[in-house]
Amino acid sequence: MKSYDSIQHVKGESKFVDDILTPEGTLYGYVFYSTSAHGKIKKIDFSDALNILGVRAVILASDIPGENQIGNVILDEELFASKEVHYVGQPVALVIAETKIQAHKGAKAIKLEIDERQPIFDPREAFEKGNLIVPPRIFSLGDVDGTWKDCDYIIEGRTESGSQEHLYLETQGCFAYPVEGGSVKIVSSTQGPTTVQKIASRVLNIPMNKIEVDVPRLGGGFGGKEDQATPWAVMTALAAIKLNKPVKLILPRQEDMRVTGKRHPYSSDFKIGLNKEGKILAYEVVYYQNAGAAADLSTAILERTLFHAANSYYIPNVKATAYSCKTNLPPFTAFRGFGGPQAMFVIESAIHKAAGVIGVEPYFIQKKNLLKEDDEFPYGQRAENCHALKSYDDAEARYDLGNIRKEIDEFNSRNILVKKGFALMPICFGISFTSTFMNQASALVHVYVDGSVGIGTAAVEMGQGVNAKITSAASCVFSINPDRIKIQSTNTSRVANTSPTAASKGADLNGFATIDACNLILERLKKVAADELSVTDVGTISIQDEFVCIDNEPTKLSWNKLIQLAYFKRVSLSAQAHHSTPGIFFDREKSKGKAFAYHVYGTAIVEATVDCLRGTYEIDSVKVVHDLGKSLHPVTDRGQTEGGIVQGIGWMTLEEIIYDLKGKLITDALSTYKVPDIYFAPKEIQIHFLEDEPNPYGPFQSKAIGEPPFMYGIGAYFAIINAMKTFCPEKTIKYNAPITNEKVLMWLHSND
Ligand code: MTE
Ligand code: HPA
Ligand code: MOS
Repeated sequence: MKSYDSIQHVKGESKFVDDILTPEGTLYGYVFYSTSAHGKIKKIDFSDALNILGVRAVILASDIPGENQIGNVILDEELFASKEVHYVGQPVALVIAETKIQAHKGAKAIKLEIDERQPIFDPREAFEKGNLIVPPRIFSLGDVDGTWKDCDYIIEGRTESGSQEHLYLETQGCFAYPVEGGSVKIVSSTQGPTTVQKIASRVLNIPMNKIEVDVPRLGGGFGGKEDQATPWAVMTALAAIKLNKPVKLILPRQEDMRVTGKRHPYSSDFKIGLNKEGKILAYEVVYYQNAGAAADLSTAILERTLFHAANSYYIPNVKATAYSCKTNLPPFTAFRGFGGPQAMFVIESAIHKAAGVIGVEPYFIQKKNLLKEDDEFPYGQRAENCHALKSYDDAEARYDLGNIRKEIDEFNSRNILVKKGFALMPICFGISFTSTFMNQASALVHVYVDGSVGIGTAAVEMGQGVNAKITSAASCVFSINPDRIKIQSTNTSRVANTSPTAASKGADLNGFATIDACNLILERLKKVAADELSVTDVGTISIQDEFVCIDNEPTKLSWNKLIQLAYFKRVSLSAQAHHSTPGIFFDREKSKGKAFAYHVYGTAIVEATVDCLRGTYEIDSVKVVHDLGKSLHPVTDRGQTEGGIVQGIGWMTLEEIIYDLKGKLITDALSTYKVPDIYFAPKEIQIHFLEDEPNPYGPFQSKAIGEPPFMYGIGAYFAIINAMKTFCPEKTIKYNAPITNEKVLMWLHSND
């Protein structure tokens, strides 16, 4: 099957929010933001703004009919700052005008006086001052304190991992218009249509059934639109209702980069204890998560960090403590991996440092400690269908690790200024929303009288190919050509109470719901066919390749004829189904449970070359063995794996978010914020999917793919530092990511 929307995308025909044809009279919004990181609002003067030609209104906190509150998990975030500002870029007002330019001019004319307060940007400083979003969380297994005495080696250290800009191609945006009877329709670029609907209801003070949220597709989300599409949608809807006009608000790129939340930076301390054989006996870790100025999804992300503290290793004694620290930066948010990558970077750093102390290769320790079937995770779940070792061994053999090593050693002995390094990166990622209740979805399937099929689900298509997968699943159930199937926009009037499309669960949850709904219709159709063909045992009827079969023998009754027949017999051609993941639970008090339906495993071998004179580097290759189950859509799964790897490498290498001393983002354009491009992407990416490993917990035995491959990118960091280490073996590594070219150069040539 081809990729679902690719032809449309390539021709530029796909309609994103900003492409929707707007009716005459549509007004445009521009947000006025705080330029101060912390302070009390003394005065806001927008009289000049109102005098600008075309400006229709300036909307403030005081214009909100409901609550000025957009917090989703914790109620700690205002839509418009009313008394205090907490970060540079916090929305204070929305200017509405006849054109975008007029709205922008209006915003520039607003004067805000702030009584400045001391801001905090560093999570450890916030922690020391007691500024925590929630009380500390701890996951523990065994007895760490009692185990140190049994360790032959104890290694301590500190790591830093940086933020990351989502850089979705389509910036945040929304189009909203009033509908009769006080209702409103919101077309939003959101991963969470119900979140938008729920928060809009709270802010606008109208019930959810009067708010229809429609999401045609996203030009990328990557987690950045799980919760942070909401403010823009709610503001737009507020303006539409207040002015009784259609309103559009699209964030310009630079503004989007400046004001929206990104991946959480973490500062962490670790202590790892091993025996002589290289077995990890104990691991203690403390995470200081920089949450930014409001909770947003930080607590859930913090929890996923704890879940992934030990990556794919079995460690009998673990104590992981996590602090979500409140600072004066834009609230950090979901980003592919959702706190998992941050945890994995720490354990991999700990192993790397330990290997250096013991005098072995890191992969010696990695391999020795990989999870085996039935091993216990620090949260009590046991490894099932565990492919940690299988993928590791397969990667080692398939890509001939011995030879990779040999060639790198030879290269390094021949070259003085250019050095190569490699690293192995095993991953283990838990699949399910860690908030159990979110693991649900629904589908609404209509077969139309012409034999075409329309499917609505809770899944949002953001380029990850969920529509292709759902199409694939439905076409399998009905055994019809996928071209007959159209996935409708994600719409809260078609499918209610949706979870955001996130946690890599989109295809699993919505795929299962779709399969169930299709099966309901299929059973009815089979009865109609049996009737028509005078067959008494419905069990002998099937549909295969668009024809009704009896005992697998095709009849002349085609899909089209069958559908018409069913319609004339007044049989319903529509069905709705709801799916919830069975068997999962998590006790937050004890921090134990079966939090995940299953885990995804894999191993990457990453090779890099460092120019030790200039500090530049290249990623030569990424060779992966990945555990995928049975693919619902192989092209998509390959694309997700490649894309995830490159995005992960970007986070670890080039992508550096820098704020100035006043909390203003400096890296707010692609001239200062570098992301991997086609030249920087690995010269070679080889992906082998483990075959014959069906997954009973996924639709048609498939496995989630969206996030896990991101974490292979962490291997790039270690490949680079291993190459650097060859150049100056005496120096100590700082475990500070991203390892930008500047940092490489400084490390190689400075004296500290
Ligand atoms: N791929 C593309 N092209 N665009 C995206 O925005 N988001 C990622 C991943 N892959 C994303 C993507 C993230 S963060 C998640 S959680 C999953 O896709 C969500 O989709 P899924 O659940 O259908 O895999
Ligand atoms: N992943 C992604 N998004 C989420 C999760 C999760 O585990 N929990 C709540 N939102
Ligand atoms: Mo993905 S970070 O769960 O949207």
